[in-house]
Amino acid sequence: MRILFLGDVVGRPGRHVVAEHLPRLRRDFALDFVVVNGENAAGGFGITEAIYEELLEAGADAVTLGNHAFDQREALVFIERAPRLVRPANFPKGTPGRGAALVEAQNGAQVLVVNMMGRSFMDPLDDPFAAIDRELEACPLGLAADAILIDFHAEATSEKQAFGHWCDGRASLVVGTHTHVPTADHRILPGGTAFQTDTGMCGAYDGVIGMDKEEPLRRFTRKIGASRFEPAAGPGTLAGLAVETDATGRAVAVAPVRIGGDLSPALPGFW
Ligand SMILES: [Fe+2]
Ligand SMILES: [Fe+2]
Repeated sequence: MRILFLGDVVGRPGRHVVAEHLPRLRRDFALDFVVVNGENAAGGFGITEAIYEELLEAGADAVTLGNHAFDQREALVFIERAPRLVRPANFPKGTPGRGAALVEAQNGAQVLVVNMMGRSFMDPLDDPFAAIDRELEACPLGLAADAILIDFHAEATSEKQAFGHWCDGRASLVVGTHTHVPTADHRILPGGTAFQTDTGMCGAYDGVIGMDKEEPLRRFTRKIGASRFEPAAGPGTLAGLAVETDATGRAVAVAPVRIGGDLSPALPGFW
C-alpha cells in the first residue's frame, strides 16, 4: 500500500497547504491511504466539524488528534458521529470518541489507525505502552488489519523512540507528532515498522511551532503574556511521511515529504 501521513495541521496556512497539494499528491502518487493530524487545525487549537469534513474532502481517510483534541468544545459532540476522527486512545475512560478506528481504504484494505499520547512532559494519562498492546492484540497486523498506522503524539524524543521499538514488527508505521518540527531519522526499524520521531507540522514555519512569533517572544523574554497565540501568517509548508508497505503490512520504503513554504522540499523517490 502507498500511505501518506501528514503532521499537525496548524491554522489557516496549514489547511491551505493541505487543500492545495493533497488532492494532487493523492492522484499523482496513487495513494491508497492518507492520515492527517488535525489537532491544531482550528486557529491552532482543536478541530471543528467543518474543518474535519474539509480534510476528508482534500483526501484524508482518517484524522488523528492529540492534547488539543477538545479545545473546540463542539468536538466533544461531533466526534461521536465522525467515524474517521481518532483521539488519543489513552485518554480517561468515558472520554467521547475513539482511540482507534478500523477504516476501509478505497482499495478495500482494512487499515487500523491509532492515536496515542506520550506522558513525558505531558498530561498524566494511562500508560501508552500497555494501551497500544491492547489495541494491537485486539486487531493484529496481517490478521485483522492490512496496515496499522500509529500516530504517537508526544514531547520527548526518547519516549517516542522507545514507543517505536515497542511496536516494531506489530505496526506498519509509528510516527511522532506534537513537536511540529520534522526530524531526520525516518527509517524502517528491524522488525519492519516505519518510524520517524516527529513528522513536523503542516503550517507556517516562520513563527514559533506554527504560531506568530511576537507573543511567544514576549512570553519568553518578559514572562508577561499580552495577547492570545495566533497562527503565523504563512506561507505554509506541507510536512509528512510517505510509506510503502508489502502484503504482510510491513514497511518496505519510507521517505519524508515537504512541499512549499520555508523548508527544503522533499518528495519520495520510490513512487
Ligand atoms: Fe500539534
Ligand atoms: Fe500536541
